[in-house]
This record gives sequence, C-alpha cells and structure tokens, in this order.
Amino acid sequence: MTTTEQIAAFEDVPGPQGSGVAGVAPEFLRDPISVLARAHRDHGDLVAFPFGPRKGPLGKVVVAAYHPDAARQVLTETERTIGRGPSSTQVLDDMIGRNLMTTDGAEWRRQRRTLQPLFTPKRVAQYTDLMAAEAARIVAEDVPAGTAADRVDLHRLMLRYSLRVVGRALFSGDIDYTAPELHKLIPLTNELIIGRTTQLLKPPLALPTPRNRAFLRTKAQLYALIDRILARSDAEAGGAERDDIVTRLRTARDPETGAGLSDAEIRDQTLLMMMAGHETTATALTFALHLLGRHGEVQQTVADEALAYTRGGGTPAEFAQQRETLARASLLESMRLYPPVYMTEHLATADIVLGGYRVPAGTAVFLSPWVTHRHPEFWPEPERFDPHRFVGEHDRPRYAYLPFGGGPHVCIGEHFALLAATVLLEAVLRAFRIESLAESVSFQQTGNLRPDEPVWARLTAR
Ligand code: HEM
Repeated sequence: MTTTEQIAAFEDVPGPQGSGVAGVAPEFLRDPISVLARAHRDHGDLVAFPFGPRKGPLGKVVVAAYHPDAARQVLTETERTIGRGPSSTQVLDDMIGRNLMTTDGAEWRRQRRTLQPLFTPKRVAQYTDLMAAEAARIVAEDVPAGTAADRVDLHRLMLRYSLRVVGRALFSGDIDYTAPELHKLIPLTNELIIGRTTQLLKPPLALPTPRNRAFLRTKAQLYALIDRILARSDAEAGGAERDDIVTRLRTARDPETGAGLSDAEIRDQTLLMMMAGHETTATALTFALHLLGRHGEVQQTVADEALAYTRGGGTPAEFAQQRETLARASLLESMRLYPPVYMTEHLATADIVLGGYRVPAGTAVFLSPWVTHRHPEFWPEPERFDPHRFVGEHDRPRYAYLPFGGGPHVCIGEHFALLAATVLLEAVLRAFRIESLAESVSFQQTGNLRPDEPVWARLTAR
C-alpha cells in the first residue's frame, strides 16, 4: 500500500522546462508525438509539461501518464475523479455540438445508454455483408482503375472504402459524392479546433475575428453537409423501411427512462460518427496495408490463413468475425505502432495520486497510446512489426494497449471499426500481393494521425 511518505508533491513531477511564457506549447503544437516520446525517455512514466508560465493566473502545467497502470486509473476512474479534457471538449462542442464526445456526467450517460445497444458486437455483425460488398467493390473496381501508373495510393483507397462503409451503415446510401468536400472539411476542422484549443485567451465566438469567422464558417459547412446527406437519404428511401444507424437512432430509447433523442441530437451524433469513424478506420487500414507491404513474409502468412479458411468452406464474412486470426492481429499490431488517436486529454476533477505523485484537481492529464504502445517494459523491440504479439496468451497489463481508449468512454465504434477493417484486409490480401513503395509514411498530427502524402503501393493479382 502507498503511504503518505511515498507520495511526492506535484511540483516534483519531472519534465522539460520549456521556454518563455509559452513553455513547451510551440514545440508541442509543431510535433506533439516527438515531444511526448522524448519526455518519456528523458523523464519517465509521469511527466509535467509547462503549457504557459509555470505560475500566476495564466500558469498551466499538464501531466502525461505513460504507464499502463496510470492509464487504467485515468480511464476507469472517468466520471469519478477524472472528466473529459477541459480545453478541447468545449471547442469540439462549439464546432460539432452536444454529442457522445463532448458531453459529460448525466447528459453523456443518457446518450451512451441510448446508443450503446446499437454498437454491440451482435448488432455490428449485421453490417458485415455491406462491408464485404464494399470491400469487393474496392478490389474489383477501384484498385484496377487506380493502377494506371502501376501503383495505387493506399490512403486514398482506404478513405474511399471507409467513407462508403460508414455512409451505408449510417444512411443506407452511397455518400461518395461528399468525399471531395468532406476530405477538405475534416483537416480544416481539426486545424481550427486545435488552433482555438491552444489559444491562451479565447475571444468569444461572437466576436468577428478572422479566426472566429473561419471557425463559424466551417461549422456552418459541416452542418449544411450533414443536412444534405440526411435529406437525400430520406428522399432516396421514399418512406421505405431502412435499417441503418440513423434510423436506429431515431427509434432508440433510453433503457432507463424510455426517452428518445431529439432531432438536433440525432444530427449531432450522426455528424460525430461520420467524422470520428471514417478517417480513423482509413488511417488504421492504410498503415496495416503499408506495414504488410513492407513485410512480405508476414503478409504471405496472413494471406495463407485467409485463403485456407475459405478453401475450408468458410465465407470471408465469417472469417472477418473470428477473433484469433493473423489478419486481425496485423491490424492490432499496426494500431500499436500507428494508433490513429495517438493521444487523449482528460481532466482531474478531484485531487488524485497518479504514478506516485499528488495531482491537484483541475490538472489536465494526457494519455498517449503512441508512447505507451512502445513502452519497453511491455513491448520488447517496440519498433518491430510483429502481429504474433496479438495471437494467443500474453501477460501484458490490459492498458499497455489502448488504441480505443477504455473505461466508460471507450470508443463506441471499436467493434464496427475492427470488423470493417478486417473485412477489407481479408479481401485485399486474398486478391493481391502488396508491395509498399515507400519505406515509411509521413503523417500529420493535427487532431488524429493522418498520412499527409500519398502512400504508394504496387498491388499484383495473386
Ligand atoms: C480505428 C478506428 C477508431 C479508433 C482508433 C478510435 C479511437 C477512439 C478513442 C481512442 C476514443 C476515446 C477518446 C477519449 O477517451 O477521449 C474514441 C471514442 C469514440 N469513438 Fe472511436 N475510434 C475509431 C472508430 C470509431 C468509429 C467507426 C466510430 C463510430 C461509428 C467511433 C465513434 C466514437 C465515439 C462516439 C466516441 C466517444 C465515446 C464516448 O465518449 O462515450 N469511433 N474512439
């Protein structure tokens, strides 16, 4: 048991000094992953970052917790002593409304209770056929069409697949037509959210500063887009029965009170799922295909397993629902090395003890899947791509791996994303041999991880 003597003071949490009034903020904004990783190497499992002057009314010190035990505490104590990240949540709320990702406390609990039944493994499995149909379309139409110069951009293909899957699951329709606008709006939205989150003094949105005007203009574009999609999918259905997520949201009831969701809530949740669901899944798939494309032997083993399953009479859809396959393990291992959500922000709502230090209420706490997934105590040779880490028994702590977060706020789309990704991976590997043409993938870190240039690969028919 920890005694009071062993608990160190908050001021003693080690960390970089930063410089001037902005502390580490400028460097962190430029390259958060490097700052987080270096701090772990230099200072250990709990690190304090000055994000402003160390003292005074503008003083702000944030801690990052890298050890799986601390990650477990932060994620599972959510709602008791830990709340949502303070700065980003308000800004996210200003941009995309009051949804599962921006609410807390009773409002969040009501929304989560109402939405949870829509995302159980069993309900999600009902989307397997549409995922398989979209994967087949990528293999039959999009890859051949994109191979004119003997190479395809994996990221572009995966964005196309995940947008179609999310579109059909949410709205029963093809929302390919939104891709050009959406793929411009998502990075812009991320940039504006981060820009406003990191402003030390935020002018009220009603003030017509250039940044505020850009923020409100983008918000209006996002809502106009979601309204267009909703109206078009309703018109296309023409009153016929549909079984998509939007329809399920319209009929969902809080199991405790029987209350449904308002139209405004349905619009906010739908916008969130479209934004949160499709880019993350596309990033996960792009890195998985890239890594398999760099590791030919591993790729062959994964492909052999998938081919043997169907030769043995199983269907690709059944294969994708198996938990212990190398295909699924490859995805998990890719998300270990390249977690699409590479850090999350939380807030101590009470005084807590974290990693042996006192952390006062009001302190923001960062978790970083990117760094924890490379923690040398739990991941031998952390930079090596080895899907076998996820096959069979292992004795790692649960929160040594946290691409979907955990605790009450664990990603609601986890089963959906994993299923969609496994279906695609299986279909591509069954049809093609992949050879990545770049040694590594360069990426942006605005919001989530996102390749920032084409990820070229050569796909040869098997
Ligand atoms: C590979 C794909 C995905 C990854 C890596 C991912 C990752 C995450 C993570 C780390 C969180 C927790 C954030 C935090 O604690 O602050 C989260 C939350 C969430 N995700 Fe995902 N996600 C993925 C796909 C999806 C999909 C497909 C959907 C929707 C269909 C979705 C919807 C959500 C929602 C609504 C939340 C908020 C949950 C809550 O607070 O109750 N995600 N996701």
